[in-house]
Formats: sequence, structure tokens, C-alpha cells
Amino acid sequence: MGKICKINLDNRLYLCAKNVRPGKFIADIGADHAYLAIWLILNKLIPHAIVTDVREGPLLNSTHNIRRFGLEEQIETRLSDGLGKIKPGEVDDIIIAGMGGELIAKIVSRADWLKNESKHLILQPMSSEAELREFLTREHFKIDSEQAIIDHNKVYTVMSVYFEQDFYNFDRIYTYIGKLGDNLTFENCSYIKRVIRDLKNKLKGYILTKKLKKVREISEVILELEQIIKENKQ
Ligand SMILES: C[S@@+](CC[C@H](N)C(=O)[O-])C[C@H]1O[C@@H](n2cnc3c(N)ncnc32)[C@H](O)[C@@H]1O
Repeated sequence: MGKICKINLDNRLYLCAKNVRPGKFIADIGADHAYLAIWLILNKLIPHAIVTDVREGPLLNSTHNIRRFGLEEQIETRLSDGLGKIKPGEVDDIIIAGMGGELIAKIVSRADWLKNESKHLILQPMSSEAELREFLTREHFKIDSEQAIIDHNKVYTVMSVYFEQDFYNFDRIYTYIGKLGDNLTFENCSYIKRVIRDLKNKLKGYILTKKLKKVREISEVILELEQIIKENKQ
């Protein structure tokens, strides 16, 4: 069978790919299908990739796709829980996409060697983004840039993250929207509006259970986020 040479990424994975530094060695953690690594290699953006998965089935998907494109020399597969089977010197850019924010935080926390300014993390959480940003801030991982993207009517965020020993952030809004307030594109505003909706739902629960401190805190955050959107319209 002839080699298939074309692959299209969806908007979410394309934004992850755009954040990879050209020429760097990458690892895609929880790659499932390896499309991201295949696309980066086919577009000659990176020389080599390691794709991992904790489960054999998804890793076999990756192996199958890599063979289909004849990229066995450039893309290696590893059965690995998080970064467990990756050595610090092997990769520069690490992508962790399509998982919950808490799982991403757990994977990052187990690889101490990521606390190195030369390593670049590209994180794309599917949920619990605030918890992930809290974890990153506590551990001195700085969100260097962040962008939202709409894919199949859902809004996602992609964070470009580096460790910086002196990084501190005490802005509570940063926990909820990271760097998305810096550039109020349609997609970034859609994400902020989604956060406002989620917080309003949480607020109802806090009101019912009379958690007054939380009611005050979340109400203030909602007001601040609404102000950001309103100022953008003016
Ligand atoms: C929903 S898929 C996302 C695939 C791809 N990264 C994407 O964004 O399209 C999540 C993948 O992560 C894998 N996974 C879950 N926990 C993991 C872990 N601790 N280490 C490595 N892979 C993991 C799952 O087996 C699954 O294949």
C-alpha cells in the first residue's frame, strides 16, 4: 500500500501544534492516535517525537498510524504512565492534551525534571482548568501564553507553560482565565463567557448551602469577568 502523505488536524490539536517550537524534540503524552506527532513530522517542523500512552490499545492505534505514514524512524512509541518512561535529556517540548486538568497536574507533578527553564509544556485540559492553573502557579510554572479555540461547537484552551523559579501570581482572575484576558478574540471571549456561566451555576449551590464566604468570593469573580467582557464591547 502506498504511503498516505496528508493529514488534517482539528482546531484543538492544530493550536497545540502551533505552540511547539520548531526544531525541538517532543513527547506527546497520552497520544492515543499520534496525529499531532505525525502532522509535525510531515510538516518538517520537528526532527523526532516520542508518543506515549498508559494503555496498550491507544498505543497500538498510534503504532498503526505511524506505520501507515511510514514514520517509524522519526516517531517512537512507549507504554508509559505519564512521563515515567521518558528521560529528561530526550525531549524539549512536552504536549499533554485531551485530559482532565487534575490528571495533567498529576502527570506534571510526578516529573520533577520539568522544573527546568529549558523545558516547554503545552497543556490542553478538557476540564478543571482552574485547578490546573492553581497547581501550575503553586509550583512556579508560568503560563507564558494562552489561547482559546472553538472546535465542534466547544471552546478549549491551550496553555504554553515554562518553569520559572521566581514566578508568583496572586491575581485570582488568573486562576479562572489564565492569560486569555490579554487578547480578547472571539474565542477567548467565548471561553470567558463559559467560565462565567459555570461560576453562576456554582454560585447557586453555594447560596443554597449558605456558604457565604464562597458566595462573596465567586460573586466578585463573576463581576470582574463580566467587566472584562463589557470593556471589550465598548
Ligand atoms: C482523550 S485521549 C486524548 C488524545 C490526544 N492527546 C488528543 O488530545 O486528541 C486521552 C489519552 O490519554 C491516555 N492517558 C490517560 N492517562 C494517562 C497517563 N497517566 N499517562 C499516559 N497516557 C494517559 C488515555 O489512555 C487516552 O489515550
